[in-house]
Amino acid sequence: MEVSIVGSGYVGTTVAACFAELGHSVVTIDVDEAVVEAINDGRAPIHEPGLGALVAEHGGDRLTATTDYGVAPETDVTFLALPTPSNADGSVDTSIVEAGAESLGAALSGVEDHLVVVKSTVVPGTTEDRVEPALTEGGADVDVAVNPEFLREGSAVADFTDPDKVVFGTDGGRGVETLRAVYEPLVAEVDPPVVETGRREAEMIKYANNAFLATKVSLINELGNICKAYGVDAYEVADAIGLDDRIGERFLRSGVGWGGSCFPKDVAAIIAAARAKGYEPELLEAAVEVNDRQPGRLLGLLDSHVDVAGKRVAVLGLAFKPGTDDVRESRAIPVIEGLQARGAEVVAYDPVATENMRERFPEIEYVASAAAALDGASGAVVVTEWDEFAALDDAFDAMAEPVVVDGRRIIERRDGIVYEGLTW
Ligand code: UDX
Repeated sequence: MEVSIVGSGYVGTTVAACFAELGHSVVTIDVDEAVVEAINDGRAPIHEPGLGALVAEHGGDRLTATTDYGVAPETDVTFLALPTPSNADGSVDTSIVEAGAESLGAALSGVEDHLVVVKSTVVPGTTEDRVEPALTEGGADVDVAVNPEFLREGSAVADFTDPDKVVFGTDGGRGVETLRAVYEPLVAEVDPPVVETGRREAEMIKYANNAFLATKVSLINELGNICKAYGVDAYEVADAIGLDDRIGERFLRSGVGWGGSCFPKDVAAIIAAARAKGYEPELLEAAVEVNDRQPGRLLGLLDSHVDVAGKRVAVLGLAFKPGTDDVRESRAIPVIEGLQARGAEVVAYDPVATENMRERFPEIEYVASAAAALDGASGAVVVTEWDEFAALDDAFDAMAEPVVVDGRRIIERRDGIVYEGLTW
């Protein structure tokens, strides 16, 4: 099929390359000329495992890019994969999606039988009330569907290629036939469950998915805090409860909490959307509160062993999770702020996220290895579970005061250091 995708960010580029791999002819539309040039040259504009190889293979061939919406009418279907950032009150800002829909609608004016698919994360009713009117105001005759993405950073290509589910939200028109045809090669290959539902339901599924997972982590963090108070190992408890199929073993790693580009934004957006309808979502608010509390608890444990004022403290891990250089909403941010408020001299290490964190905290010291961060430090906190932190061995011997507070259960308890696990 001929597929166009508006937006060559994280989701748009991954989906475009994966659709090309499935055999479709794909053109992405983006305002950023550098991104367009990269794709046409066969270079991935973002770093994601497996993506570089796909763009190298198909870029400039079955996968092309342009800044011109004029290509859309030559395709069978157009996906909107534009960002939906947060407003100051946490609600979702749909202005970029709406502007994209307007430009697309103008390009599709007079075209018949075209399907537009919203991939951006938007609250229920947005497609119907805002995107569809923006598309059709220029006279375009289009069907509009919703097809959310559940890709994780660091495994986006694998998540696309072998998804837990695919969701088609349509108003029952011809849209569902087109979506089935687009996904047919994927369904033939890995046969994922395909959920065919309404557009509002599809919009809500994305938020419900992320709100559920974020709340699951906050719940295990709350249970973990109680475990800690009673000298119980929360990881042994989590392993056991995870054996119950109704609970499931995944997303039960307790610690310093969740961050990233999706969970904080999406949970805030669904809270704001609930309030807009007069419903106070207390459980989701509590999930955020527990998440906000964990960095302070980590520092509280450090305080119980060492007064860090005027002392060097190592922060191990800056990325919001391992396998990425993304520091958006990373728990390292409140941890560093807390250390600064205590008058500590922060020395930070991350294998890949240093440059991104330097933009946020230019004033702290960044070093090239975990061992260098620990050298002479009176206390260390672990914020990201990079594998290399499990193999630090003798590096702790160089600490001035060997107190280690682990927020991710990556460091082994050992002789010669004071070791505190956040929930164990
Ligand atoms: C998430 C969703 O998983 C994905 O489906 C959606 O499309 C985008 O948001 P991502 O943000 O890439 O993906 O990260 P994910 O691996 O889900 O982790 C999110 C956060 O939760 C990280 O900060 C991670 O450290 C934390 N987490 C996760 C825990 O603290 N404990 C766990 O057991 C799992």
